[in-house]
Amino acid sequence: MSAKLIKGTEVREEILEEISAEVAQIKEKHGIVPGLVTILVGENPASISYVTLKIKTANQLGFKEIQDSQSEDISEEDLLALIDKYNKDDSIHGILVQLPLPKHINEKKVLNTIDPDKDVDGFHPVNVGRLMIGGSEVRFPPCTPAGIQELIVRSGIDTSGAEVVVVGRSNIVGKPIANMMLQKADGANSTVTVVHTRTKDLASHCKRADILIVAAGVPDLVKPEWIKPGACVIDVGVNRVGEKISEKTGKKIAILKGDVDFDKAKEIAGFITPVPGGVGPMTITMLMKNTLKSLKFKLGIA
Ligand code: GUN
Repeated sequence: MSAKLIKGTEVREEILEEISAEVAQIKEKHGIVPGLVTILVGENPASISYVTLKIKTANQLGFKEIQDSQSEDISEEDLLALIDKYNKDDSIHGILVQLPLPKHINEKKVLNTIDPDKDVDGFHPVNVGRLMIGGSEVRFPPCTPAGIQELIVRSGIDTSGAEVVVVGRSNIVGKPIANMMLQKADGANSTVTVVHTRTKDLASHCKRADILIVAAGVPDLVKPEWIKPGACVIDVGVNRVGEKISEKTGKKIAILKGDVDFDKAKEIAGFITPVPGGVGPMTITMLMKNTLKSLKFKLGIA
């Protein structure tokens, strides 16, 4: 059997079209567009490339976009003051501070300063709490888990009563996706197990999974024999395992590998996400969706 590929690149286009149509409608009716500010501190190449893609996507959707680049040596006090300025700016509905931050800045303090109603990353403790409660309390589900859930639902996979096994317990992926899949809601209602580095028998848990979500950051951690035939495998891992010359551009590019041995797993699974092109494209898409949602909350139409 060969698994059906879950292509994030295609689902992204579908969702971006939906967002674009809503932005046009809101603009016509209310005379306002979603406003997103991305704050970048320093010149980390990976951060620059993420932020560039976020700006490009926001512009493509007709958002108001501000890119606020700050030097590596900005003081914590000045950065907090900058966030406060955007907290008070009525044309801004989403504030994103690109992580990681330089060592002299307390990341927790920075994230806690963002107005929870503009925290489109969903990292503020208020939004973590809202997610935990679920239902109408949820404001901004964190972007990667939200993207994973969209991929599962839009692939037509029934999550109700499904055995979901999450490999990894990070605050950004593992914990929130586990929480989301167990909620009493469409696209959820699953029986969830979270496994991690201290789990005694990883294989036996994975073998039970109807939906296996792997976010461990370890290349090829999940072996093909751990996959239940026909299961849905969501691979969140993006591991750089070397470099190659791109056939398209002639430039050096990273060789990426997921946390699952894709070539063998695809012969056993029913559905599988590729790396790259699976979960990756969904994160920025969901950031845009959260920014639109923030404006809709403000207008009382969410
Ligand atoms: N750095 C890498 N991924 C992310 C993300 O999703 N949000 C923020 N703020 N920083 C990041």
